Amino acid sequence: MRYLVTGGAGFMGSNYVRYLLKTYEDVEVLVYDKLSYAGRIENIKDLLERDKRIKFVKGDICNEEFFEYIVKEYEPDVIVNFAAETHVDRSINEPAAFIKTNILGVYSILEVLRRSSFSPRLIHISTDEVYGSISEGSVGEESPFNPSSPYSASKASGDLLVRAYYKTYGLDAIVVRPSNNYGPYQYPEKLIPKTIIRALHDKPIPIYGSGEQVRDWLFVEDFAEALEVVVRRGAKGEAYNIPGFNEKRNIDVVKDILRLLGKPETLIKHVADRPGHDYRYSMRGDKILSLGWKPKTSWEQGLRKTIEWYITNKWWWKPLISDKYFELDTPWSKGR
Ligand SMILES: NC(=O)c1ccc[n+]([C@@H]2O[C@H](COP(=O)([O-])OP(=O)(O)OC[C@H]3O[C@@H](n4cnc5c(N)ncnc54)[C@H](O)[C@@H]3O)[C@@H](O)[C@H]2O)c1
Repeated sequence: MRYLVTGGAGFMGSNYVRYLLKTYEDVEVLVYDKLSYAGRIENIKDLLERDKRIKFVKGDICNEEFFEYIVKEYEPDVIVNFAAETHVDRSINEPAAFIKTNILGVYSILEVLRRSSFSPRLIHISTDEVYGSISEGSVGEESPFNPSSPYSASKASGDLLVRAYYKTYGLDAIVVRPSNNYGPYQYPEKLIPKTIIRALHDKPIPIYGSGEQVRDWLFVEDFAEALEVVVRRGAKGEAYNIPGFNEKRNIDVVKDILRLLGKPETLIKHVADRPGHDYRYSMRGDKILSLGWKPKTSWEQGLRKTIEWYITNKWWWKPLISDKYFELDTPWSKGR
């Protein structure tokens, strides 16, 4: 099977590509990625060096002409779209890039497929954040969207466009909505790597507001496995929630990391809360469970693996941090 993986040099995309090459003999993968600040060739460099089945092309999904050329040349069986601007904090400060990639970029991919003479399957990665904050219970795939941040609103738009192109033009398109992923190769600005790296330096760890916010954590390799189940057995036009079944308050995530690293909780510092901060995300997963998938990695195992990876791969994150990285300011606390 031939895979075109857009955004495959980012955190989840690179873990997925790694999983594909490790699990299946008969796969070929082309990673198409613009290498934004979050996309790093280092994430797949070892694979490119040792495995002939993977290739890389630098490209933007918003560049419709070039993307169309690549699709025609490569003739993939499936396109898996991870490409996105992904950091909610950045979307509060500078929403433009989110509108461009997460909406117009998805539109470009859909237009290329609408014109295409052959029909690769499109799997689009959406997010649990499209449903907005869930005070009680858990939501299914048909629950209404209620996004709160420019990030989640842009993801909701991309998600709806994909579904519209299935309904209107019959594209073989599927949406998956994963919960919070964690694991190796996640950019140091996100909660778990940020906590690990700061704790390793005995630096204060910022918690937004009270830290009571609840997120559902899924180990990134378990997500890769779920995604592949959808690629192979998912039904055209459907959306699939991919929960981690592992809800944790942010403050408890940070405390668990400190415990595993043997660091004191006095490192925790409460800072101004994120504007529009969703209290809780929670999805039901009946559809993906009915396809025979469930997460294999426990929170304790996944967190230990992640911490070990950051400890043994300092070469990967050291070039990404400077003194500024350890400041406690948030974009909104400066009123920018
Ligand atoms: N990380 C999570 O917990 C999480 C949870 C749910 C959904 N998601 C979604 O999963 C996907 C992957 O997330 P991630 O955490 O790996 O993100 P990431 O920021 O680590 O990676 C995004 C990748 O997309 C690339 N990219 C950005 N704009 C592009 C463009 N215009 N053209 C081509 N490539 C572009 C980047 O270079 C990078 O390699 C995103 O769609 C995100 O919204 C992430």
